[in-house]
Amino acid sequence: MERPGAGRVDACPDDRLECAAAARRAAIASRRPSTVPDQNVVEIADLSFSYDATRHVLSGINFAIPRGKVVAIMGGSGCGKTTLLRLIGGALRATKGSVRVFGQDVAGLAPDALFAMRRRMSMLFQFGALFTDMSTFDNVAFQMREHTRLPEALIRDLVLMKLHAVGLRGAEGLMPSELSGGMARRVALARAIALDPELMMYDEPFAGLDPISLGVIGQLIRTLNDALGATSIVVTHDVQESLKIVDYIYFVSEGRIIAEGTAEAVRASKAPFVHQFVWGEADGPVPFHYPAADYRGALVDARPR
Ligand SMILES: Nc1ncnc2c1ncn2[C@@H]1O[C@H](COP(=O)(O)OP(=O)(O)O)[C@@H](O)[C@H]1O
Ligand SMILES: [Mg+2]
Repeated sequence: MERPGAGRVDACPDDRLECAAAARRAAIASRRPSTVPDQNVVEIADLSFSYDATRHVLSGINFAIPRGKVVAIMGGSGCGKTTLLRLIGGALRATKGSVRVFGQDVAGLAPDALFAMRRRMSMLFQFGALFTDMSTFDNVAFQMREHTRLPEALIRDLVLMKLHAVGLRGAEGLMPSELSGGMARRVALARAIALDPELMMYDEPFAGLDPISLGVIGQLIRTLNDALGATSIVVTHDVQESLKIVDYIYFVSEGRIIAEGTAEAVRASKAPFVHQFVWGEADGPVPFHYPAADYRGALVDARPR
């Protein structure tokens, strides 16, 4: 990534691995800019958002994500999780309240400052697809070639390091069609960390995976976060997998944060919604039945007279 003082290693000595490590050390040293007043990478205050005038998607959301943590945002489909990530990434603007990332108010950023902020974060999209006409290697190299001036020889070392981190160095020559679903997700992960992001956002990273791949992706999210010194937000409805790897969980329902806590606190929670969600109960505060008129009355009314 082309951060100030980082990545410019055009004149590279023979030992390319040492050179890559030096580039990485420079990149890490160039982080932590003085604009970050405290340890919260993301701060959201009184955030409300609507796509249109009639329906509120998010209402009065408050939370902070401390540096270095892996935090889950959980909730049922349609509760506003992806919308929240898009607000953090600056793709959407808050209707009310503020979203601060790396100490900066996202809504107040000029386009080039917003672009610079986005370069420090990475998002693994829901069903994030690989470029099907490029090899595994080229998929991971893509952003390095687009966004840095690193020489190809160094890009090669960095790509192999990223693939090694997800256990797929040996698959560098395979095309996406030759990868299993779990392998493809791991390549997408290697591609997402290609530029050493400070903030990783995962949108439903476990969707559609078999149990083994699911465990592998969960562990990778945790270990990559810690190895990169990054901060991660995992949006998911997969409770059991997330509880194994995250530091803290926020539950969203109908656009509001209705519960929060550590994994142990969430497992032990007696709060009705949390209990229903964690233990996968069909009925509870989220009702099984869609609102309807009185059942008995409806049957009587439907009888031919
Ligand atoms: N571009 C859009 N325009 C209008 N409504 C949208 C748009 N994207 C999402 N929505 C609506 O906003 C709500 C929240 O969506 P989303 O954030 O995708 O939920 P989740 O990721 O939790 O499943 C849903 O009711 C969805 O239909
Ligand atoms: Mg979503």
